[in-house]
Amino acid sequence: MINVKNLSKRYTNIYAVDNISFNVEDGEILGFLGPNGAGKSTTMRILTCFMPATSGTATIGGFDVFKDSLKARQIIGYLPENVPLYTEMRVTEYLLFRSKLKKVARSDRKKRINDSMEQCGIDNVQNQIIGTLSKGYRQRVGLADSLVHNPKILILDEPTIGLDPNQIRQVRQIIKGLGEKRTVLLSTHILPEVEMLCGRVVIINKGKIAASDTPGNLSDQVRAGGNLSLEIKGDSKLVIDAISKIDNVAHVAEKNKIENSGQNSVSVYSVESKKNMDVREQVFNAVVKNNFTLLEMKKDAVSLEEVFHHITTNEDAGIKG
Ligand SMILES: Nc1ncnc2c1ncn2[C@@H]1O[C@H](COP(=O)(O)OP(=O)(O)O)[C@@H](O)[C@H]1O
Ligand SMILES: [Mg+2]
Repeated sequence: MINVKNLSKRYTNIYAVDNISFNVEDGEILGFLGPNGAGKSTTMRILTCFMPATSGTATIGGFDVFKDSLKARQIIGYLPENVPLYTEMRVTEYLLFRSKLKKVARSDRKKRINDSMEQCGIDNVQNQIIGTLSKGYRQRVGLADSLVHNPKILILDEPTIGLDPNQIRQVRQIIKGLGEKRTVLLSTHILPEVEMLCGRVVIINKGKIAASDTPGNLSDQVRAGGNLSLEIKGDSKLVIDAISKIDNVAHVAEKNKIENSGQNSVSVYSVESKKNMDVREQVFNAVVKNNFTLLEMKKDAVSLEEVFHHITTNEDAGIKG
C-alpha cells in the first residue's frame, strides 16, 4: 500500500530523512516510532505530497507521490502534527468545507460527514464551534476530517500528543476501529501506543531506520542476555557468591529482601547473563548444589520501552530489521 524506497530529505545543513526504505502492507497498522527530531513528520509530509523529497521514491497505492500526487492524495487521509482547524466554524460546517475541498461528490457529502463524525464519536458536538471544544474533541474533528473522503490509507502524525490520559485512551480506541478497515501509518514516540495498536513497528532515529519488526520480536532481540528474576531461600551472601560464579552470568543483584534470618533468609535476585546465554539450568544446579531453595525463577519481560532506549541510545546495537 505504501512503498518507500531510499527516501532522503535534506534541509540546508542536515539530512532529516536519510535513505530510508520501508513498506506498509494492505490493512496493516504500522507504528512509526522515533524520538523527537528523528524525521517522522518530515517523512509523513513527503508521503502526503506536502513536500518533495531530496531523493528516493514513494508510492501510495501504486501512485507516485510526486508524479501522481492528485491521485495519491485522494486515497490518503492525513492528520498532521498540528491540526489546522478553523476554530470559528461549527464542526459540520468545517467538515462540509473540507469535503468540498477534497472533492467529495455533492450527493455523498452528507453521508460521508455523518459517517466520519460517528466513527470519531463527535456527532454529539456537531453544531458546536470548534474553538469551544476540548483538545481531545478537536483532535477527533481532525480525525474526522482525515476520513471525510473515505480514504483507504490513513497517515496520522502523533495523533495523541498533548491529550490527557482519558482523551488518549479514547483517541486510541477510535484509531483501533479505523484500522480495522484501513491501512494506517501512525507516528508516535509513545511506547504503549505502539504496543496497543500496531502489528509492526519501524523505529527511526536521526533520519535512519534503526529497526523494523513486530513489537514482540524486537523485545526478544533485546532480551538476548535473558535477565532472570529469582526468589531464593538461603543466606544472601552465599547465594550471590554461588550464582555469580556461574560461567555465563554477568551480574547478580539482590533486589528485594523478603525475610532476613540467616540461611532461612528469602530474597529476590536479578540475574543478568552474558549475551544470548540461557543460564536457567546452571542457576538451578547451583541452587541445588548449595542447598538453597528455589522458590521462583522467571524471565524478565523486556518492554518496548527498553527496546527503544536500547536502539536509540546505542548506535552499535546492531539490531536491523
Ligand atoms: N523546515 C525545516 N527546516 C530545517 N530543518 C527542519 C525543518 N523541519 C524539520 N527540520 C529538522 O529535521 C529533523 C527531523 O524533524 P521532524 O521530521 O519534524 O522529526 P520528528 O517528527 O520525528 O520529531 C529535525 O532535526 C528538525 O529540526
Ligand atoms: Mg514530528
